[in-house]
Amino acid sequence: MSGANSANGATGTGRMSGNGWLAGRRALVVGAGSGIGRAVVDAFRVEGARVAVLERDPDKSARLTAELPDVPVTVGDATTPGANSAAVTAAVNAFGGLDVLVNCVGVFDFYRGVAELDAEVIDRAFDDMFRVNVKSHLLSVKAALPHLRASRGCVLLTESTSAYYPGRGGVLYVASKFAVRGLVTALAHELAPEVRVNGVAPGGTLGTDLRGLPGLGLEDRRLDDTPGRAEALAARTPLGVALSGDDHAWSYVFLASERSRGITGGSVHPDGGMAVSTARREEHA
Ligand SMILES: NC(=O)c1ccc[n+]([C@@H]2O[C@H](COP(=O)([O-])OP(=O)(O)OC[C@H]3O[C@@H](n4cnc5c(N)ncnc54)[C@H](O)[C@@H]3O)[C@@H](O)[C@H]2O)c1
Repeated sequence: MSGANSANGATGTGRMSGNGWLAGRRALVVGAGSGIGRAVVDAFRVEGARVAVLERDPDKSARLTAELPDVPVTVGDATTPGANSAAVTAAVNAFGGLDVLVNCVGVFDFYRGVAELDAEVIDRAFDDMFRVNVKSHLLSVKAALPHLRASRGCVLLTESTSAYYPGRGGVLYVASKFAVRGLVTALAHELAPEVRVNGVAPGGTLGTDLRGLPGLGLEDRRLDDTPGRAEALAARTPLGVALSGDDHAWSYVFLASERSRGITGGSVHPDGGMAVSTARREEHA
């Protein structure tokens, strides 16, 4: 299997060399040391993909290497062109090409509103939020692009319910996630027909390490440590579910597979049905 976006009209199953939905696919997952990204790595491997990783945290990277010795792990900051380029090179050297780029990098703002933030704090925190949540996604696409074009591959960026509704994050997080949604739209438009670009927009997620922005003094605060989070997540969704990265990972599998070969510029929303609920501000994203 050489590409995620075949133009030859073959169905996904017709071109698969193994049994998995991603058999033969070569993927790079950026931000995969914990949470949703790590779940994507595991699900992709179950479905037959070979996966490489770019991760900033050295301890998480070492754990990944210990648990999955055949996964090439590049330790580096995805907000820099150099780290993305090194990770793409490592993936291509290991696999001979690249079919799928996934980005799961993100940082949170713990619902801070414009009225609560000093102007000087906004000045710094805005740049930090957009550097991590938006620029890292664009730079990873830039680094992978020649290889994705060659393989007629695909890109998956991580949005959020905050890419669609207010109240699940503060003004900086929501704005940054709307911008990721903008990347999906702009890149899908620009890169068709060679490369498909889609988003996954998870709802609040259990079992991740998502932390606050250092510029807001929130780097030691983990969203998952919020008391009563599982109950609160389930209570506010029409489906009454509190989802984990393992749940979301199958949306990434679908969008990375040829079963979605007619989809670009779209998003899958594993969020318990937020679109048919009423968005309201509360203290649990
Ligand atoms: N946790 C939630 O409730 C939730 C809900 C919706 C969307 N999201 C989004 O899902 C994505 C994944 O979040 P998560 O909850 O799994 O958090 P997480 O912190 O567990 O995963 C993010 C990973 O990216 C890594 N990372 C962070 N900055 C990086 C950088 N500059 N370079 C390289 N790696 C970096 C982290 O070390 C971590 O391993 C984020 O974009 C987040 O905004 C999370």
